[in-house]
Amino acid sequence: MEKRGQWATNIGFILAAAGSAVGLGNIWKFPRMAYGNGGSAFILIYFLIVFLIGATVMITEFTVGRNAQKNAVGALRTIDKKWTFIGGMGILTGFIILSYYSHVGGWVLKYCVAYLTGGSKVYADPVNFFLEDILGAGGVFPIEGAIIYPFIFIAITAFVVIKGVSNGIEKLNKVLMPTLFILLILLFIRGITIEGASEGLKYLLYPDFSKVDANVILAALGQAFFSLSLGMGVMCTYGSYLNKEENLVKNTFMICGLDTAVALLAGFAMIPIAFAAGIAITEGGNAGFAFISLASAFQAMPFGTAFGALFYILLLFAAITSAISILEGTVAYVTEELNISRTIAAAGLSVIMFGIGILYTLSQAYANLKGIWLDANGVSYPVLGDFMEFMTDKLLMPLGALLFCILVGWVWGVDKAADEISSHGRYPFKLKGIYTIMVKFVAPIAIILIMLGGFGII
Ligand code: ALA
Repeated sequence: MEKRGQWATNIGFILAAAGSAVGLGNIWKFPRMAYGNGGSAFILIYFLIVFLIGATVMITEFTVGRNAQKNAVGALRTIDKKWTFIGGMGILTGFIILSYYSHVGGWVLKYCVAYLTGGSKVYADPVNFFLEDILGAGGVFPIEGAIIYPFIFIAITAFVVIKGVSNGIEKLNKVLMPTLFILLILLFIRGITIEGASEGLKYLLYPDFSKVDANVILAALGQAFFSLSLGMGVMCTYGSYLNKEENLVKNTFMICGLDTAVALLAGFAMIPIAFAAGIAITEGGNAGFAFISLASAFQAMPFGTAFGALFYILLLFAAITSAISILEGTVAYVTEELNISRTIAAAGLSVIMFGIGILYTLSQAYANLKGIWLDANGVSYPVLGDFMEFMTDKLLMPLGALLFCILVGWVWGVDKAADEISSHGRYPFKLKGIYTIMVKFVAPIAIILIMLGGFGII
């Protein structure tokens, strides 16, 4: 078997885990969610959820991984053989997510190219550029949106994973993450100083609690999980490459803090830009906001093409570092459990995910591909793309996180987890009392509520 990778430095681990967390979820999904769900009222709820429940689940995943120094399946088996399936579920979740994530990443890449070459192709007709060129709504097979760009995106992802944990993933994150922060801050400064920004800022800062209901809280929980890369076997795997000397509590808070900071900066950059341009921020699909609405906003603002390029490059970096982490979770499993080389595992899995992802992209407009879904409203047949997202967001991700908490809180026991968290006494775990309540009661109950909400039962 190949030698197991390890992070060379703690900052490398923090940046890689933050790179996993910071992704399409933060920059593309969060601003529109905050906009549509009560501005700073939503932000406040999201903040509480991230630091109470999200941080609990994240440290639990890190702990299980670092304890065993194995992939998600091996790590769960080390704790209790009967619970090995949770690791398998995480891997499956990551596999499905990356199948579609890599395609959206491909679309982002196409936007990068379009903006870096002047933006005229997008500006000519932003709606057509997205719906026809990328999704094939006009009936012409979208070769670039469904094949070429997603293939390039996943090939880059696989290449970095093949290079290994410290040589590939850590090195890349050490460059891309600081760059991402600089780009985001530039965009943020532009957003809050643009003429007419005050309306957007006011809107986002005003706490409209009348918009917050149970569904909004549940949506915030789902968003926090996706954004922190929880329940997909990723943080468990990344934790397994961390040496026992590092401080897990501090690292967890830093990663949650960075992830949330990026979401907030993105929100306070993008919403004012959209307001200033007077464009409609639809409450419908996320894709519409990032790929259609913003194009009109960039077209309307001075130096918009440069800022557009900056935005899509930022989005691309965020997406790539997340995609790498998800692929790594799957590759770690295949190499360690099935004894297949890293290169073959990464290349083979990428090809399969890419193939499944083609159906995801085609199902958006070009082809009539459907899934099947069952919830409190009965049986429905969502388009395949939505079906894949429902499977991961509403079912597998929360279920995986829930089972993780139950296993650690009730089966393995908080004492053993706390011993690992404290690096066997090196860093006194002062939050043990709160962690115990969170992992045994609060997080599981909250997650069960998300799931019931997702299925329309409450
Ligand atoms: N955590 C990643 C994101 O937010 C998956 O996009």
